[in-house]
Amino acid sequence: MKSFVYEAMPSRVVFGENAIEHLPREIEQLGANRALVLSTPGRQELANDISQRLGARSVGIYPHAVMHVPIEVARKAHDEAMRLGADCIVAAGGGSTVGLGKAIALESGLPVLAIPTTYSGSEMTSIYGLTEAGLKRTGRDRRVLPRTVIYDPQLTTGLPVATSIASGFNAIAHAVEGLYAENANPITTLMAEEGIRALAQGMPEIAKNSRDPGGRSDCLYGAWLCGAVLGSSSMALHHKLCHVLGGTWNLPHAETHTVILPHAVAYNYAAAPEAMARIERAMKISEGTSNAAQGIFDLMKQLGAPVSLQQIGMKQEDLDRAASLVMEAPYYNPEPTTQAKIRGLLDNAFFGRRP
Ligand SMILES: NC(=O)c1ccc[n+]([C@@H]2O[C@H](COP(=O)([O-])OP(=O)(O)OC[C@H]3O[C@@H](n4cnc5c(N)ncnc54)[C@H](O)[C@@H]3O)[C@@H](O)[C@H]2O)c1
Repeated sequence: MKSFVYEAMPSRVVFGENAIEHLPREIEQLGANRALVLSTPGRQELANDISQRLGARSVGIYPHAVMHVPIEVARKAHDEAMRLGADCIVAAGGGSTVGLGKAIALESGLPVLAIPTTYSGSEMTSIYGLTEAGLKRTGRDRRVLPRTVIYDPQLTTGLPVATSIASGFNAIAHAVEGLYAENANPITTLMAEEGIRALAQGMPEIAKNSRDPGGRSDCLYGAWLCGAVLGSSSMALHHKLCHVLGGTWNLPHAETHTVILPHAVAYNYAAAPEAMARIERAMKISEGTSNAAQGIFDLMKQLGAPVSLQQIGMKQEDLDRAASLVMEAPYYNPEPTTQAKIRGLLDNAFFGRRP
């Protein structure tokens, strides 16, 4: 076996149907008495419910999380936490809400308890993002890693099917890149393969019935594993492309990951054979009939996910600039990156061609 470094992200995970009932116990375990509950404006009902469950241990609700954590929103939320004398942040929602919790933690050092309701995986990473004057800055800091994560599949049954499927592919993308990451190791590899397997099994169940308990719990479990992979490994071309497209053209986060994924996999197919074999095994892709890239694309089509950049708001005339931006500061990638090849990848993704 090759030598490796594995950096675990220490957090406590409480998983299961009705796990939310353990919230008071978990807040007590953190030694917190004054929690500020965060949500997006659309999920305030969930924040109210959580605040009620906390009773006297809740000092308020801040339902103003928005995507990509604009710095003004982060500052206001931090000020509110200080004004209320909060000693803990409870972030209930998707990556946007968890991201706001992380921004408060970065500034204040307050512990975060996350209750994820999408499959973004942000709750398992020490990666934060802040957007200022249209530019998103990201970094890694242990202070922002949620100390406790409560995964309750019941809280995800209201996530619309289309959002669930896109979010599921977002999670799979974390695992895919973990499999061929520069610092890939046997532990993250195990988690990545199992995460992809669970999501590929759960997503078709959700597409048939949004409230399917088995599908919901498989996907949330898969998202946890894929998020843990992202937290412990470096990223490659796929994430670079999505950061450029999301950051510069404000394309929707999970949908951008979905559209790009089969093309990033095709790009790296020959250079990362072991990773590809694991994806194919996890997704039960039969050898000879299709490969990892085609299998992902076919599953996207089967589940009604967006398959082209033009479908999600990208303009053809911006593809040249996107390729240049990727090449300005490229990430490590198994297959070397060249401007011409990236431009070709973007063209395929723009038109939604099967890889
Ligand atoms: N730092 C990290 O490690 C990391 C990882 C992944 C994503 N992210 C960040 O997370 C953000 C995207 O997160 P996301 O894709 O989860 O989107 P999101 O958090 O914006 O959620 C999408 C929409 O779904 C709604 N929603 C969430 N849960 C719901 C539920 N159970 N029922 C009904 N509606 C629900 C939200 O209110 C929102 O309107 C981006 O800013 C991205 O950069 C960060």
